[in-house]
Amino acid sequence: MRNAELKIEDVAFGGKGVARDEGKAVFVPFTIEHERISARIVREKKQFAEGELVELLEPSPERAVPECPYFGRCGGCSYQHISYAHQLEIKARQVEQAMRRIGRLANPPMRPMVPSPLPYSYRNRITVHAQDGIVGFYRRDVHQLLDIERCPIAMSEVSDALAQLRARPVRDGHYTLRAHSGPRVFVQTNDGVAEALANFAAEILTGEEKLLIDAFCGAGFFSKRLAPQFERVVGIDWDRFAIAAAQKDAGPKEAYVSGDITTELRWLLQQSDLATTALIVDPPATGLSAEMRRAILDSPPRTMIYVSCNPPTLARDVAELQQHFAVISITPFDMFPQTAEIEVVVHLKSQ
Ligand SMILES: C[S@@+](CC[C@H](N)C(=O)[O-])C[C@H]1O[C@@H](n2cnc3c(N)ncnc32)[C@H](O)[C@@H]1O
Repeated sequence: MRNAELKIEDVAFGGKGVARDEGKAVFVPFTIEHERISARIVREKKQFAEGELVELLEPSPERAVPECPYFGRCGGCSYQHISYAHQLEIKARQVEQAMRRIGRLANPPMRPMVPSPLPYSYRNRITVHAQDGIVGFYRRDVHQLLDIERCPIAMSEVSDALAQLRARPVRDGHYTLRAHSGPRVFVQTNDGVAEALANFAAEILTGEEKLLIDAFCGAGFFSKRLAPQFERVVGIDWDRFAIAAAQKDAGPKEAYVSGDITTELRWLLQQSDLATTALIVDPPATGLSAEMRRAILDSPPRTMIYVSCNPPTLARDVAELQQHFAVISITPFDMFPQTAEIEVVVHLKSQ
């Protein structure tokens, strides 16, 4: 292992600072662009190397004091050492870069990043793990549990639930602690940003479409809020419990189908009047499968809103969707402050 003096040039998607050493990229966590640092090189590969911060020689004015005592050891957060305003700048830049490099957009139509009303205390659920009497999160880079008494990015109700869990003997396993009661299905993690996300979707869908297809609908987060703007909304998800929850309080315009998007979406689009159809997709981090992209390109709806929690897979899919769609806007939402995660909404129009 050797030490190197480095100048950080950028912060890569995933949260690590990037420097160049003898032409090779070196990734160093917990650093900020323009900082001069001394690093220990801990892994050396042919194409790149990885380092650990040893000393800050010239710190960035954007440095902030982390609120969490576990920051740096816990695998959850990557950005608590950066001021919140600058986290937003870094994430917006990362989305734009992904859209240029992978999404094949020469001038990505970026809209300003939507910040979280709360930079801490925003998570409405966390999943902790218990093993041999330790209750907490996995450590950074090691599959080993770190004992966690509190998580400053979680809402106070979640922290209370953690304290209650820890107060009794805990069996080995995984425990999801939630601020809100309700069915055990996917819910957006940050209530304030989720509200902004739904309002933004409502703004984009200006009333020219009659049918809304909400693919990956979960318990109907988007379709329930947007139903008043449409004649009909159809949600699809393969989680039977989420579909049952969506059906429970469904109004007369809403229909929910339990099934795989790959098959259901192709069929639904083929049945629809595409000129008056809007499609929302909100897939998991893997993005759309090749078959889903094909189904959309074979029957392109007038308007499409792509909600993503993973910019690289989003950019890959947008590159292909441009065969039939124009990219109208790209809007990052900071659903997960202090972490390297980014939520992005892309508005596409069939052409
Ligand atoms: C990111 S969540 C979005 C949920 C919802 N839009 C919301 O805002 O609450 C992704 C959802 O996709 C569903 N899902 C993932 N892959 C699927 C597939 N191939 N077919 C159907 N549903 C799928 C999951 O069950 C999950 O509810």
